[in-house]
Amino acid sequence: MKLPSQFYKPLAIGAPDPMREAPVKIERMIHFLPPQIEKLRNKVPDLIAQVDVILGNLEDAIPADDKIAARDGFIEMALAHDYGSTGLWTRINCLNSPWALDDITRIVLEAGDKLDVMMLPKVEGSWDIHYLDQLLAQLEARAGITQPIMIHAILETAQGVKNVEEIAAASPRMHGMSLGPADLAASRGMKTTRVGGGHPHYGVLADSDETGSERAFYQQDLWHYTVGKMVDACAANGIKAFYGPFGDFSDPDACEAQFRNAFLQGCLGAWSLHPSQVEIAKRVFSPDPAEVKFALRILEAMPDGTGAVMIDGKMQDDATWKQARVIADLARLVAAKEPDMAAVYGL
Ligand code: GLV
Ligand code: MG
Repeated sequence: MKLPSQFYKPLAIGAPDPMREAPVKIERMIHFLPPQIEKLRNKVPDLIAQVDVILGNLEDAIPADDKIAARDGFIEMALAHDYGSTGLWTRINCLNSPWALDDITRIVLEAGDKLDVMMLPKVEGSWDIHYLDQLLAQLEARAGITQPIMIHAILETAQGVKNVEEIAAASPRMHGMSLGPADLAASRGMKTTRVGGGHPHYGVLADSDETGSERAFYQQDLWHYTVGKMVDACAANGIKAFYGPFGDFSDPDACEAQFRNAFLQGCLGAWSLHPSQVEIAKRVFSPDPAEVKFALRILEAMPDGTGAVMIDGKMQDDATWKQARVIADLARLVAAKEPDMAAVYGL
């Protein structure tokens, strides 16, 4: 095991120092875009204002014949625009594929200073993170990049779930993790054909009563266990947890319910694979205006964050002050991105 004193040392001479704290950013939706399609690349300037993160997808859903065009298209769109506070990410192909090495080297050498986060699919253990960590450091040194590129792992294999804690702790480059329910279902041998969401047959049947009336069936969340395990691994290591994709675009209500379960369990955002999911993610992952107003009252009533005060009959102390800070800080990030929300929050 690496000594703690070595953990924050750059892995290549000339590479930037690893960050000790990830930049504070709002990442309610990671918006997926197939970069080989010019018509969609042309929408990037509008998207920069509408979404929190734009991700050029190079992996699954990109046909094998388009892999190189997708990589070229991503580099082109990275260089063509100023992304401001909007995140620019890419999802590279998995490490054992014929494309991963060129995805990593070309993107870092040609557009590395525009890239915030590299999403790595099918992460099985800390060894995958260590490999990418070392390679990124070498490439950053060669390209003269000054801000380290962060790594975001997709949790989508049974082995990855088994090793989730060591993946979360593998490197100071770890930004966070997303659940990949489609690949995970396949890896586990789950009997489903969906991309995330529930299943009508996964649930519990209520006990029968004396009247013999029909027994209620309550559908359960198939992803509860994995999201909980992922959130604990991420929170314990100071990195961020995200729900991944919801594939049924015809069912916005189910998408919203799945996103909200993840939000309540501790996730900070989800993927948007379709423009309609951007608004759903904004609604779910922005703090509630009434909560924000209450949080601001707590902060005002306890300027130094200590002691105890009563507000509307509810006791506030140092711990509720910290919760209020979380909500107010998130609201300020949302308000900076969306002026109409600034007015709603009274900021
Ligand atoms: C995402 O990549 C998934 O497999 O669900
Ligand atoms: Mg996948």
